[in-house]
Amino acid sequence: MSVHIGAKPGEIAERVLLPGDPMRAKWIAETFLEDAVCYTQVRGMLGFTGTWQGQRVSVQGSGMGMPSASIYTHELINEYGVKSVIRIGSCGALAMDLNLGDVVAAIGSATDSNMNRSRFDGLIDYAPVADFGLLRTAVDTAAAQGVPIRVGPILAADAFYTDRPDLYDALALYGVLAVEMESAAIYTIAARYGAKALTILTVSDHIKRGEAMEAAQREQGFSNMVRIGLDTIIS
Ligand code: HPA
Repeated sequence: MSVHIGAKPGEIAERVLLPGDPMRAKWIAETFLEDAVCYTQVRGMLGFTGTWQGQRVSVQGSGMGMPSASIYTHELINEYGVKSVIRIGSCGALAMDLNLGDVVAAIGSATDSNMNRSRFDGLIDYAPVADFGLLRTAVDTAAAQGVPIRVGPILAADAFYTDRPDLYDALALYGVLAVEMESAAIYTIAARYGAKALTILTVSDHIKRGEAMEAAQREQGFSNMVRIGLDTIIS
């Protein structure tokens, strides 16, 4: 068992979907996986292992924000031998041509987090990026499923509520599509410990237009993203 995950060795698959919300991990396990078994409930951060198309896959809640996501990503890779992780989550859109329910794949992740700055002693602005193979597979998989997917850079922010919307406007000028809160840390830790990582997101709200998804819209949008994530992680 690791410090924060109550699984025994071998209980977690080498391929893991990483939603932020533990209840979404449960929903994914119950809705999509066969023979899903819960392997951890430590701190309520649920994790399940089952099969998708006959292949072993785990789904582990990561919590919100980079400190929490870092803990789970680190322990999955270093304590349980996980080889690839795909974060699936929601984001607030900045790009005006994105709409609620759209699926975004993060090719790279800018961040205001101090975690990477302290990692490189403030001397390097490390650029956290997706694994190219996973990204290419996700794009092909989305095309095969008939789901449009937008590939581009995003912002991993420390704070959900910001006093500086002007900084979001500035990032949008540089093609940053959307804001979420975990991807930069997940990409960095995967790179550091030799695993593959990707982030796939559904637009749950539009920051500039002040729009938010209805509950019914949410489930359909999230289902598209989960199917892309599952088909990508087993290939
Ligand atoms: N900010 C950060 N994370 C998010 C948002 C947002 O507006 N929407 C969904 N996840």
